[in-house]
Amino acid sequence: MKVREITLDQLDPRKFVEEKVEEIRSTVGDDLAINALSGGVDSSTVTMLGNRALGDRLKTYFIDNGLMREGEPEYVVSLFRSLGVKVNFIDARKEFFEALKGVRDPEEKREAITQTFYRKVFGKIVKESGIRYLLQGTNYTDVEETVSKIKRQHNVLSQLGIDTEKAFGYRVIEPIIQLRKPAVRRVARFLGLPKAICDRPPFPGPALAARVIGEVTPERISIVRKATAIVEEELCNVKAFQYFAILHEDRVTGLRGGKREFGFQVEVRCWNSLDARTGSPTKLSYNILERLAERITSEVDGVVSVTYNITRKPPSTIEAV
Ligand code: XMP
Repeated sequence: MKVREITLDQLDPRKFVEEKVEEIRSTVGDDLAINALSGGVDSSTVTMLGNRALGDRLKTYFIDNGLMREGEPEYVVSLFRSLGVKVNFIDARKEFFEALKGVRDPEEKREAITQTFYRKVFGKIVKESGIRYLLQGTNYTDVEETVSKIKRQHNVLSQLGIDTEKAFGYRVIEPIIQLRKPAVRRVARFLGLPKAICDRPPFPGPALAARVIGEVTPERISIVRKATAIVEEELCNVKAFQYFAILHEDRVTGLRGGKREFGFQVEVRCWNSLDARTGSPTKLSYNILERLAERITSEVDGVVSVTYNITRKPPSTIEAV
């Protein structure tokens, strides 16, 4: 299937929403559809479109993989419930941490998360529900990157010649496949989604697991989660492309209360970038850097060292894993 892009200039959000709602309705007919909501702008937009088209005949699932930021699962679920979307909350933390046990290699981590999501958790829900229509937030960049083999996106199937009806027994509906991110954000705003969702900075699919070097355990996720919350609080007015904390694998010697402490190291990154393809570190003021170090070492147990990354992409990448 050849996908035609709708550029930001060409996009009329009202017309787009009307057309997509109609398309979803006519495809699904009197049946049910199912989708997974993560709280990212793509899946949030698709959830709203599906809800407009089908109401309660769209079964929306939020899968808690244990790798989200502080308060994120509760925020997303309560936001959508307040927008009239019935969200089914699935606690799958155990499944994800089990799959990540002992895994240190970055690609193996990604694979473990993808497999757990598609085979063990959401795939099973879809199968058991018997629902034949799956709404998915594939966007134009996902298709482009997959077709040109830059990055294989887990959600791109038909463009790779996979017939989901034959392979999995359901048909995939991709309402935002013609849009790039800025256009998706505009549709999200039109649909009444709050700024926190529409203007959300990029966040990787593997979530905080992409920010733990070495093994991902509940304890290590908890450290990076606390550090991330501090970084997000302190840097939200900097107007950077993306900013976050990373937990290193190596420990270093520190000193606390007159005692030696062999503690954790946290690295802070804050990027200027247009499209994540290249990037440069933001020139944060020394005051901000000092405040980050102060807060992270005093508020996150066991952290004795905070560093700031000053490398450009390339040769660095945005994430560390
Ligand atoms: P890198 O680290 O490759 O990141 O410079 C480029 C952009 O992509 C995001 N990113 C990911 N997003 N799954 C995702 O959905 C991933 O595995 C992944 N890895 C990186 C990253 O946050 C940045 O915006």
